Amino acid sequence: MDNQPIIRLADGNHMPQLGLGSWAADDQQIAETIHAALDIGYRAIDTAAIYNNEKGVGNALQETDIPREDIFITTKLWNDKHNDVRAALSESLEKLQLDYVDLYLIHWPAPPQNQYVNAWQQLIELQKEGLIRSIGVSNFQPEHIQRLINETGVHPVINQVELHPLLQQRQLHAWNATHNIVTESWSPLAQGGEDVFDNPLVQHLAQKYGKTPAQIVIRWHIDNGMIVIPKSTTLSRIKENFDVFDFKLEKEDLTTMTTLDIGKRLGPTPETFVDFSEFLELLEQRDANDQR
Ligand SMILES: NC(=O)c1ccc[n+]([C@@H]2O[C@H](COP(=O)([O-])OP(=O)(O)OC[C@H]3O[C@@H](n4cnc5c(N)ncnc54)[C@H](OP(=O)(O)O)[C@@H]3O)[C@@H](O)[C@H]2O)c1
Repeated sequence: MDNQPIIRLADGNHMPQLGLGSWAADDQQIAETIHAALDIGYRAIDTAAIYNNEKGVGNALQETDIPREDIFITTKLWNDKHNDVRAALSESLEKLQLDYVDLYLIHWPAPPQNQYVNAWQQLIELQKEGLIRSIGVSNFQPEHIQRLINETGVHPVINQVELHPLLQQRQLHAWNATHNIVTESWSPLAQGGEDVFDNPLVQHLAQKYGKTPAQIVIRWHIDNGMIVIPKSTTLSRIKENFDVFDFKLEKEDLTTMTTLDIGKRLGPTPETFVDFSEFLELLEQRDANDQR
């Protein structure tokens, strides 16, 4: 709890380096999960309008005795709301039952819509009004962020991107760092797939440090300076994923981990992605292929 690392963002705000992901958990599930996670010591929760569980997050926050200012809440603007950020944020705040969010992210740049700069201008205004503490982006490539900076002069403090051992995004991470932007890893466990957990190097490191493969991977994110938000709704794993503050990976092990990078993307491509239903179809196809 007290030994959990905290990251200072470029705007002076602070965020726990390890938080709880919430994708694919419904209102009821996420509320129960958050109760358990807060007891264990988690103080950051990642949700999004499109996850359809902000209400559950809000219910859990209503029921805890932990002061609001000790919990860091992230939510995200969906692609079809780039033109109407105020309404989207106000809907999220209502469901979350909060006066402000700690971090609001543009979920995807959705370049074919060409509206993300417009959305960013609105985030800047809403931050000035105190409805958002920190503003950032998700799934943005350098050229998208560079446009935000050129056209508004305001840098995002975070870029949340798909990042795990199979897709290490070292160039993007370095670019973010030179622009004072913290990289936050989504699908940090590669969605719990065996490609990572059964990998011989990860298995070897798990033995060496006396930790589980998931703990090795979470620690790898932390030791590389990323914010990391593994999702689990299973009590034993919620605990396991938080039990990573009593060891560190040695430098040579961090170097060897780079050999796992095969550039394998599990989610959509940031340059073209707009429509969530297309992504769900893609997932269904992938599941059908896996079962063959
Ligand atoms: N910005 C974006 O575009 C974006 C996109 C995707 C995700 N995200 C955020 O990132 C969060 C994390 O990503 P994710 O949910 O896609 O994937 P993830 O955290 O890499 O993996 C979650 C999966 O791994 C399993 N798992 C968790 N801990 C485990 C452990 N210790 N051992 C074995 N299996 C374990 C979970 O199962 P159980 O739950 O059954 O335990 C779940 O199936 C999301 O929840 C969401 O908040 C953001």
